[in-house]
Amino acid sequence: MSVMDLLKSRRAVRNYLPKEVETEKIQALLESAVLAPNDRLRQPWHFYVIRGEAKERFEAIAQEFLLERFPTKPHLVKESLAVLEKTPLVIVATADIIPGDEASSEDNEYAVCCAIHSMWLAAKELGLGMVWRTRGVGLVRDERLMKFLGSPENKKVVGTLFIGYPEAEVPATAREEVDKKTTWL
Ligand SMILES: Cc1cc2nc3c(=O)[nH]c(=O)nc-3n(C[C@H](O)[C@H](O)[C@H](O)COP(=O)(O)O)c2cc1C
Repeated sequence: MSVMDLLKSRRAVRNYLPKEVETEKIQALLESAVLAPNDRLRQPWHFYVIRGEAKERFEAIAQEFLLERFPTKPHLVKESLAVLEKTPLVIVATADIIPGDEASSEDNEYAVCCAIHSMWLAAKELGLGMVWRTRGVGLVRDERLMKFLGSPENKKVVGTLFIGYPEAEVPATAREEVDKKTTWL
């Protein structure tokens, strides 16, 4: 598939078949990530692979978070947890923070965004579906997730990636015409 076709067909896939993702495919996703561009070759990323028993522990902190965050919305809590339980694989991507160097730390986050997009495209090519989650069960801005990862120093969570074999084809999403988003100076 050409890069353009891959870009056009990539989708946020949120529902998966009850099938584990093979270790070789996880490895391939990680290999695609580390090829991403990054300033001064700092390679400012780290990936935490969460499956099996670790995923059960992740589900426990997600439940805690959701109950605290949405105390009046039991349905939302239940649905979000069901989504997580049906997700075979979770990968958390972090960016290195450089104390006292805000600009480089920011650039590191951009590099991790590139890495995540590479993984998203690679997932498509490998027959996998993926979604990058920051809200809700993504737990991206919740301290519990950092603790779960082992409280790594000077790292910031950029994305929690839900991955699995797609349950069904996901319809294409619309984009505004590029001309509306472009100014030719
Ligand atoms: C930084 C970022 C954060 C996102 N967070 C979430 C999220 O928390 N939950 C979710 O369901 N999708 C999330 N998404 C996926 C987008 O909703 C999705 O990409 C968008 O709806 C467009 O669909 P498409 O990717 O299939 O074109 C996120 C995407 C990005 C880039």
